[in-house]
Amino acid sequence: MSINEFTVSHYKKRTHTDSLKWDALKERYGHEDLLPLWVADTEFSVPEAVQQALQTKITQGIFGYSLVPEDYFSTYANWQKRHHQQTFEKDWLFFSTGVVQALYDLVDCFTEKGDAVLIQPPVYYPFFNVVRDKKRQLVTSNLVSTSNGYQMDFTDLEKRIKENQVKLAILCSPHNPVGRVWKTEELQAYLDICAANNVLVISDEIHSDIILPGNQFISTAEIAKEKGLLENVVVCNAPSKTFNMASLLNAHIWLPHPKQREVYQNWSQENKHTENSSLGQIAGQAAYQSGDQWLDSFLALVTQNYHWIKEQFQQYIPQIEVAELQATYLLWIDLRKWIPPEKVKYYIQDQAKLAVDFGEWFSTETKGFIRINLGTSPDNLRLVINRLLEVNQTIQSGDNIQSNEREELL
Ligand SMILES: Cc1ncc(COP(=O)(O)O)c(C=O)c1O
Repeated sequence: MSINEFTVSHYKKRTHTDSLKWDALKERYGHEDLLPLWVADTEFSVPEAVQQALQTKITQGIFGYSLVPEDYFSTYANWQKRHHQQTFEKDWLFFSTGVVQALYDLVDCFTEKGDAVLIQPPVYYPFFNVVRDKKRQLVTSNLVSTSNGYQMDFTDLEKRIKENQVKLAILCSPHNPVGRVWKTEELQAYLDICAANNVLVISDEIHSDIILPGNQFISTAEIAKEKGLLENVVVCNAPSKTFNMASLLNAHIWLPHPKQREVYQNWSQENKHTENSSLGQIAGQAAYQSGDQWLDSFLALVTQNYHWIKEQFQQYIPQIEVAELQATYLLWIDLRKWIPPEKVKYYIQDQAKLAVDFGEWFSTETKGFIRINLGTSPDNLRLVINRLLEVNQTIQSGDNIQSNEREELL
């Protein structure tokens, strides 16, 4: 399916559908008239096979307690093999209603109050919340922006782990918001440091299927397996970002080592008695079974959107710098050479009428950045560029007025 055919057949208007992204603008941003580019879901309906599978279940009309669909595991395992050359075993797999919920549960399960937990800002802000809400000690090792893109600082990572006696680290792989797909050597170095210091790694791999051309995702579990370090890794992922089904509440936890499984099962007995999401599993299975082409089209669209918007910035507002998008549909943008950090809300939200994720949500050091969502139509992105160009004109004419005034004064 061409990008155009995909957009025409799958793009849906989401206003007045109880969409958080479109219908909570007043509540979240104080204004309704914004174009939403925040929160990580998209304007595209799920693969047809998913709709059909859900319709069959809905037509049956019974939503009593359910089992995991019989072929769920083999379908999901085949997907992992087909897309990531990943093998894993049925015993590893546990379900959660979401990856964020899984993070809260895993932090609870594998650490005690007051234990140190490390994250790598700028990073998906619920990582901060989980550490704080669970009353653990927050330890950060910032990613470093280099001429070669964002990198981990392994010296700093090791130092902070040792200094704070870190017990657990939450890795974002691929990384939201900087868009990195971590390379094998990077994951090896990260894991070596964690394992040498008895740090359990929770690898949040929810974006692992959204990989742009030229990049290869590898799971931290695969690296750990090769190194005999499976005891040090837990993985979370889900079909929700891949296929735009976050509200169906179906996510995966992989516990690849029997010791961790025992700890988690004991913890669950005390703390967790939620049912699985039957609709979520039906949808997930259908997507993993038949969603390859849909995903190819979606990725082609995201890739096109990325290159297009990057070119527009280069051509018309070259002071705006974008991070290289290797994965996710979330673009990390540095506005600091264009507008002062304290003016970002004024220009982007009040003037351009865009609802974005602000840089300071991801790190105290990234005020002046924004994250925008490219999982939308090229038409919406044209609106974004038109509005930013208008703002740019205002800024430039404002500058001109100031310089004319200055001349007059002289
Ligand atoms: C890194 C990361 N983890 C987790 C989530 C949310 O997962 P869930 O909706 O399953 O809680 C997101 C959503 O944007 C994300 O970017």
